[in-house]
Amino acid sequence: MFNPLKIFFPKKMLGIDIGASAIKIVEVSRWGGGKTLENYGQIKSNLLYRDSYGSSQEKSSYLLSNDFTAKVIRGILDEAKIKTKEAIFSLPDFSTFCTSFDLPAMTEKEIPGAIRYNASQYITLPVSEVTLDWQILPKTPGDKNSSLRVLLVAVPNQVVQDYQSIARMAGLNLYALESEAMGIARALAKNNKKVVCLVDMGVRSSTINIVDKGFLKKSYSFNFNSNQFTQTISSVLGIGPEQAEDLKNKEGLMYTRQDVVKTLYLLIDPLLIEVKNISADFFQKEKKQIEEIYLTGGPSNIPGLKEYFAETLKKNVLVPNCFSGFLYPPILEQTLRQMSPSFSTAVGVALGGLGI
Ligand SMILES: Nc1ncnc2c1ncn2[C@@H]1O[C@H](COP(=O)(O)OP(=O)(O)OP(=O)(O)O)[C@@H](O)[C@H]1O
Ligand SMILES: [Mg+2]
Repeated sequence: MFNPLKIFFPKKMLGIDIGASAIKIVEVSRWGGGKTLENYGQIKSNLLYRDSYGSSQEKSSYLLSNDFTAKVIRGILDEAKIKTKEAIFSLPDFSTFCTSFDLPAMTEKEIPGAIRYNASQYITLPVSEVTLDWQILPKTPGDKNSSLRVLLVAVPNQVVQDYQSIARMAGLNLYALESEAMGIARALAKNNKKVVCLVDMGVRSSTINIVDKGFLKKSYSFNFNSNQFTQTISSVLGIGPEQAEDLKNKEGLMYTRQDVVKTLYLLIDPLLIEVKNISADFFQKEKKQIEEIYLTGGPSNIPGLKEYFAETLKKNVLVPNCFSGFLYPPILEQTLRQMSPSFSTAVGVALGGLGI
């Protein structure tokens, strides 16, 4: 969160995730000890990018102009009749830089200066060109070491300015910006007492995150693009992209043709190897085993994917529901369960703005 001076949390908040596959918005509110899903909306990118950008999903760049993005956001808000103005945007992993390091014990006042000083060792951009956000991670009980463990997120100032102008043009108040990884960790693992590996599969990239007792400890980004599934099915079977997308969503890894399924396994395996390596590295450094694996991001719904993860990694694998714990019309139960993987980022950043 980049808003240390805001002490009072608003009652309603928008979470906005400008993803590569869609722009997703949720409106959430809090009351007493509870939270309500007030509204949600999205526009899928195949409706936005078809003409201007073809199928190229270029990493490290924004696909749409600020101006156009703002218009699309305004369109979603008007369509869903959302009046709330306070908004938190999630920052894609390619535009943020996340690292953790230790600082010697010091007073609270000294921390910001020490973090800025240390940041320059870890960030390739000059510190003057980035906005820094950090969390001091809690100590493991019994840890005698007096140093402070810092999780640092650095965002180029240009990126912050882009989001400020998108918010302004869409008629919103930018309450805060937050990295996707922090958002999903809050949405899916905040009150979890375990060590969880949270895998977020996206279109532009994917992240593997370690959340220890509700705190994000590590976040790594990979070039795993879930649209490859559709492209592979389309080329192996010689069918069009829409039909291939449908087959992926309905049959996925449960499809009867083993040649197709085996080709899909080959796409997933590099991600599984990364999960294994990261888990082993975490164990070596912190002496803690990953207890559960959570999948999120649209592709988590691919039939058989969760089972393939579980079988390969020999761990319990879940697709948690970011809407559980919210009040919402019961008729939406099934729809929200389906939507959960692609809305977890928007939900997580919005909840941060309510202080939940
Ligand atoms: N029900 C479903 N079953 C299988 N795959 C799905 C389903 N719904 C969405 N997907 C796939 O999920 C992907 C979109 O996921 P998501 O919405 O999480 O991406 P994104 O957030 O826009 O991407 P990024 O985070 O990289 O910007 C697409 O490849 C889409 O085909
Ligand atoms: Mg995403």
